[in-house]
Parts: sequence; C-alpha cells; structure tokens
Amino acid sequence: MRTDCPPRPNPYTPGAGDRPRALVGRTDQLALAESVRTQLEAGYSANSLMYVGLRGAGKTVLLKEIADRLAQAGWYAPYLELRRGLAVDVALAAVAGRFAGHLRPGAKLTRRVGQFLRRGGGLQVLGSGGHVGAGRSVPAYDDLARVLTSLGEAALDDGLGVALIADELQSVSLASLGALVHVVQDLRDRLPFAFIGAGLPHLPSYIARAATYTERFRYEPTDNLHEKEARAAVIDPAAEEGVSWAEDALRRVVAVADGYPYFLQLYAFEAWEAAVRDGAIEITLGHVAAAEPYALRQIESGIYGARFEGATESERRYLFAMSVLMNAEGDRVRSGDVARALNRELSAVSPTRDALIRKGVIHAPDHGLLAFSIPGFRQYVVGRSGDG
Ligand SMILES: Nc1ncnc2c1ncn2[C@@H]1O[C@H](COP(=O)(O)OP(=O)(O)O)[C@@H](O)[C@H]1O
Ligand SMILES: [Mg+2]
Repeated sequence: MRTDCPPRPNPYTPGAGDRPRALVGRTDQLALAESVRTQLEAGYSANSLMYVGLRGAGKTVLLKEIADRLAQAGWYAPYLELRRGLAVDVALAAVAGRFAGHLRPGAKLTRRVGQFLRRGGGLQVLGSGGHVGAGRSVPAYDDLARVLTSLGEAALDDGLGVALIADELQSVSLASLGALVHVVQDLRDRLPFAFIGAGLPHLPSYIARAATYTERFRYEPTDNLHEKEARAAVIDPAAEEGVSWAEDALRRVVAVADGYPYFLQLYAFEAWEAAVRDGAIEITLGHVAAAEPYALRQIESGIYGARFEGATESERRYLFAMSVLMNAEGDRVRSGDVARALNRELSAVSPTRDALIRKGVIHAPDHGLLAFSIPGFRQYVVGRSGDG
C-alpha cells in the first residue's frame, strides 16, 4: 500500500568497515575485549587478542566498536588499518590525533598523548631510522616502543590503559610483524598495554612465522551470524525507522545471505530501496524479489569480480579446478585432489594455493581441505569458466 510517509534514511550499511546500526551476535567477542580491560586496570597482564575470520564477516566493525568502548572508558585506543608496505609506526602516526577525543581531562595519559601529538603526530621522530630491505628498520620500532612505553607509564599512574588496535594484520610484512610482536611482548608484562588485532583465517600461522614466541596470543573466531542474529541484523535497523519486515521477506533475505554479514546488509539495503520506490512502510517479498538483481549485480561487479580479476592465470585455473570438484563433493575439496585435477604435483601448485589464501579468496577450514571464502563464489567461478 502506498502511503505518504517522509523519506527515511536507508539504515543498512553494505560496505567494508561500514558500521551496522545493530551490531549483532558479537557478545562473546566484546566480552573478551572487556575482560582484557578489567585485567589490565587491575594490574595484571592480558593475552593479545586476535579476531580471525573471512572477509566480510565483520572484523573491522567489531574492532571499531572495541576501540570506541575502550576510549569511552578513558583509554587511548587508536584503531589502525594496516596494509602491505605501510609500517605500523607510520600508521599510528597518521591516526594518533583522531583517538584523543575521549581522553579523561586531567589524566596523565591525556597530557602524555597531548605531548605526543604536539611533536607532530609524535612518530615523526621515527624518521631517524634507516631502511633495512623492503621493511622498516629496527630503530623505527625502538622508537615505537619508546612512545608506547611512555603512554603506558602514564596510563599505569591513572589506572587506565593503552590499546593498539590493528586491522588486516595478515597484510603486514613478516619483518614488521615480527618487530611489532617483539615490542608488544616487551611492554605487556610491565604496563597496561593491550594488543588487539584482526586478520584473515591464516593469521595464526602467519604470526607464528613472524615471531617465535607467540603462545600468549588468543585467537577468537568472528564467524557468520546464526539465524536468530541474522534476523535481528535485518529487523532492528528498520524498526528504528518505524519500518517492518514481512515474515516471508525476512526469511528470504536471511536464506540468500546465509549468515554472511555483508550480504545481509546488501540485500536488506536493496530491499529497502525497492520499498522506498513503492512508498511502503512494510518490506515485502515483492521488494526482496525486486532487490535481488541489484544486489547480485553489485556482488558480481564488486566482491566476486574483484577477487576474480585480481587472480593470475594459474590462480584462475586453480579456482576452476576447485569449483568443478566441488560440484561433485560438496563445499570443500582436498588440495591433493585439486593438484591431481590439474595434473600437477601438490608441491608444484601449493604456491598458487597459498597466494589465493593470502588474498582471502579461499581458505583451509581443516588440514588439507579448501573452501571458497565468500558464499556463492563457486557458482560465479563456474559461470566465468567459459570466458577463456
Ligand atoms: N555483527 C554484525 N551485525 C550486522 N552487520 C554486520 C556485523 N558485522 C559486520 N556487519 C556488516 O558486514 C559488512 C562487513 O563488515 P566488515 O567489518 O567490513 O568485515 P571484515 O572486516 O571482516 O571484512 C559491513 O557491511 C558491516 O556493516
Ligand atoms: Mg575488514
């Protein structure tokens, strides 16, 4: 039914790092971060906390929520998005000021952060270090350690803490990651300093390669949402705007998204747009049906297309072989079977497999097994197999 209602902002957030109106299903993950805070404020140390999960599962928005909550508690908790070639100290210098806003007036930590910022983002002093190979030099990490130590000491006096919140950790070079882990381990035992990060599922093995002493990392999965949570992710943002979902429409979105947070946001976003075109205040199955081609087009040109176009010839052949085997065997394949299908030795194709894992296109749900990392990607690969 068409009603004259004022336009409402679309409450869904389909995009990397776009924070959902309703952050659902993350109670355990948030509680863990909270326990790190309690632990450190009471004068104990805490394990480093690493959230691991597939791309689109919601690691970034979780880290941002944790950063906000720590900041509200008076902590200095900058969120850093890392990428290949960007050293941790440079990333910290770039964001240092943005996270000073919540600091407690009068706290030593607040003054120390102020000093650090007045030195021009603070870490300019790091320019003194020369470069070693492609990575940053060790002296740069000495300076990072000095800055973090000084902040940590001030926080200790205040009964507060400092948290380094680092996203996309799997994209940091092994040398930088090793140096960072070293800095962290050095600080953690004597200062209220937390290291909280996120990365793709292969992060634990990557960290193990970067640093020999890593048993005090706690890896916490950030998985797809269960049905009840998925329903809430769809219903709650609309309810805030006075819009409801018909049961069959909701069921359809939850079914096509299959618990994958990015797809939930995308399908709900497009269904909302269809309802707006209709002037409706209830989202119906018809709206979802109208939305599906829009959503699919964005998935194909975006998340699927980018993965496929970014793959080399040999990576594509590997993906095709996986998709063909999967038709017969379900949603997982043995890497040995993929090698056989390609008429190659396992060792000859494992660099290709590893490159696809690093790119987050596939992952290893179990030893020797492989799966695609985005729902529906297998069908897309099958569809592209005629492209040459
Ligand atoms: N817990 C959640 N509840 C609802 N939507 C979420 C949740 N986590 C993530 N999303 C949505 O999923 C998408 C991907 O989130 P993001 O944090 O970028 O994933 P990742 O960093 O793991 O790749 C975004 O559109 C975001 O709004
Ligand atoms: Mg992310």
